[in-house]
Amino acid sequence: MATRPPNSRYKAVVFDIGGVVVGSPFLGIAAYERAHGLPRNYINCLITAYGENGAYQRFERGEIGLKQFYDVWGRELNNVERGNAAYNAYCAKRSLPPPAALPSSLKIDARDLFGQMMRQAATMDAGVVRAIQRIRARGMRTIALTNNYSKEDEGGAHAPDAHDRAHLGWEEGAVPTRIRELFDDWVDSSTEGLRKPDPEFFLLACRRNGIRPDEVIFLDDIGANLKAAAQLGMTTIHVPLEGSARALKTLGEKLGFDVTSLPAAKL
Ligand SMILES: *[C@@H]1O[C@H](CO)[C@@H](O)[C@H](O)[C@H]1NC(C)=O
Repeated sequence: MATRPPNSRYKAVVFDIGGVVVGSPFLGIAAYERAHGLPRNYINCLITAYGENGAYQRFERGEIGLKQFYDVWGRELNNVERGNAAYNAYCAKRSLPPPAALPSSLKIDARDLFGQMMRQAATMDAGVVRAIQRIRARGMRTIALTNNYSKEDEGGAHAPDAHDRAHLGWEEGAVPTRIRELFDDWVDSSTEGLRKPDPEFFLLACRRNGIRPDEVIFLDDIGANLKAAAQLGMTTIHVPLEGSARALKTLGEKLGFDVTSLPAAKL
């Protein structure tokens, strides 16, 4: 069956990594919450509560290294007043019934939690990988736009040691070459000092690849990121947890060719 020619409106497909190309770090957070008797999404609320100046956000922008991150994040995560306030606000906003009991103290181990998040995110989604290869074979640009930790691979005095890397499943680095090489360009928050959903981060990816936002299809699992991209004029596709098949079908419809039917590729 002949495929239709690519829709010339688009020149590039931009992919988020965690939760789109590989597993979601959110699953690691959810598992940690369950194991420690915390309400679902409690830790997510705490992470967001600190805003752009939180340790997590600063680590993603490459402003602090792994060890300082563990240290500061650990303190932030164990601030029970902050956590309970953030979680109550989240329940109110979503009209969820307030929880029967909130923790009176917290004992969250930042290193354990981050390890669980990273190890969770290690497996690639074979369908998404094939789609990337197929889009690239059509001569369109494929770009990774990721809040990530490439900077930790640059070495130097503060680089994670072998023990830290093993704990995180980073034996091949925070960003293994085989994942990076799937894309024409890898745009990483930690090396650029910008992170999603900052519009500047999206615009940087466009400039660097010689494309305009309206020539881009962007896939992500996080609503705030999709919203920022859409406001810039990008076409957006939400990839729900465990829901890449449906998203790839939508992607094929928008591009005008099927991205799911390449003969099995070597991963
Ligand atoms: C960062 O990139 C690595 C390697 O590609 C991936 O496994 C990980 O999930 C990414 N992290 C996030 C938060 O997207």
